[in-house]
Amino acid sequence: MAHAPDIAELRAAFPALQRTRRGKPPIYLNNTCMTLRPQVVIDAVRAYYEDFPTCGGGRSDGTKRLHNWFQEELRGHEMHAREAARDLIGASSVDEIVWTRNTSEALNIVAHGIALEPGDEIVGSEREHNSNLVPWLEAERRLRERAGDPELVVRRFFELDEDGGFDLERALAAITDRTRVLALGHASNLDGTIIPDAAIQALAARVHEVGGVLVLDAAQSVPHRSVDVAALGVDFLAFSIHKMCGPTGMGVLWGRYELLDAIAPFIVGGDTIADTWQDRVEYKHPPGRFEAGLQDYAGITGAAAAIDYITDTVGFDTIRSQELALNTRLTERLAPLQCDHFWLLGPEDPARRGGVITMASHSGALINAIERIGDEEANVMVRRGMFCVNAYLHRRFDRTDSAKNNLRASVYFYNTLEECDVFADIVERVVKDPLRYLDDA
Ligand SMILES: Cc1ncc(COP(=O)(O)O)c(C=O)c1O
Repeated sequence: MAHAPDIAELRAAFPALQRTRRGKPPIYLNNTCMTLRPQVVIDAVRAYYEDFPTCGGGRSDGTKRLHNWFQEELRGHEMHAREAARDLIGASSVDEIVWTRNTSEALNIVAHGIALEPGDEIVGSEREHNSNLVPWLEAERRLRERAGDPELVVRRFFELDEDGGFDLERALAAITDRTRVLALGHASNLDGTIIPDAAIQALAARVHEVGGVLVLDAAQSVPHRSVDVAALGVDFLAFSIHKMCGPTGMGVLWGRYELLDAIAPFIVGGDTIADTWQDRVEYKHPPGRFEAGLQDYAGITGAAAAIDYITDTVGFDTIRSQELALNTRLTERLAPLQCDHFWLLGPEDPARRGGVITMASHSGALINAIERIGDEEANVMVRRGMFCVNAYLHRRFDRTDSAKNNLRASVYFYNTLEECDVFADIVERVVKDPLRYLDDA
């Protein structure tokens, strides 16, 4: 087995962690949103601007915009990035890797591309992230307009367990002969729960039986564990490179090649076409048909460095074990504080919650106070609000008036137990003596 990397050494490679404000470093606990970047990724981005700042064309079809020195260098980086993304998720070809700005864009491409007919249905869980809900609601709206039926039901959802865990039986029961798309979040950004591999395989088999496709929103899984699209049997998968130490505004859409080749492109224009005439267009095959206009070549160069860094320097074993240790510590400290004005969401067992712990309260002022004091006293960065799962929180918690009062701490491999303790101390102080802290919240 490879030697486990030392966390202190890994931290030393992150410039943002070396900063101080009022003599203290940041305590960055908002990794579900976006992670920090190591020097090697920053250097890769800078290398693009300093060394080969030209327009690219790194696709396996060999089409080149230019023949020159810089272009050759950039092309090498682009191809390496596509290969790294392919290998990361077990795709069978670089042509199945489409660069996007993020998971949201990737899911929009699929939701726009799949041709739905009246009668077709889209199924998701009750807790899909807005990025895996709204594109399908828009598909529903378009289909209703086409069918001239404003009541047409296109999207259906199934319930999760009481504690937010995935229920395979309910998911399977939601799939019918009409199901054209099953669009699921692989791991939750609210409570960290994940759909087990065996459940995804069973769902993929079932949805294929009825002629549908399984679209996996892997924004919260690919950065944290090894994900293999072939083993899972899914059809499309989306993730964001900025949630795994990569440059901001970089994401990936993967699809089985024949499916990608069959869906209509969404954003079109330069570089997506094989040829045009005044009255018609012939599109490239994937991935070109989906990558309109000049691309974020610095981001692509940095994406390769980020994927290499995560897989080779850090490794998913380290990520999993460190997240478990950190979330266990946070849970041990925060779970005993639960009371009528403070509680945790999701399963009790930290092993089921990845790197995420979410607190909730009837009192928005209490949640605000934790965030404010964390920021002012210890440079803690967490996230408050509805985390883009509004629909689920409304459905579950509107009646308790707590849907909006949530605070999430999410860890990654570079966080430490000491950081968890600093944050937990602040939560404990506020929860145990709320009146003292609520005055100006
Ligand atoms: C489960 C899930 N899906 C989709 C997204 C959207 O990702 P992005 O903002 O990178 O498009 C997120 C972002 O947090 C997420 O957690």
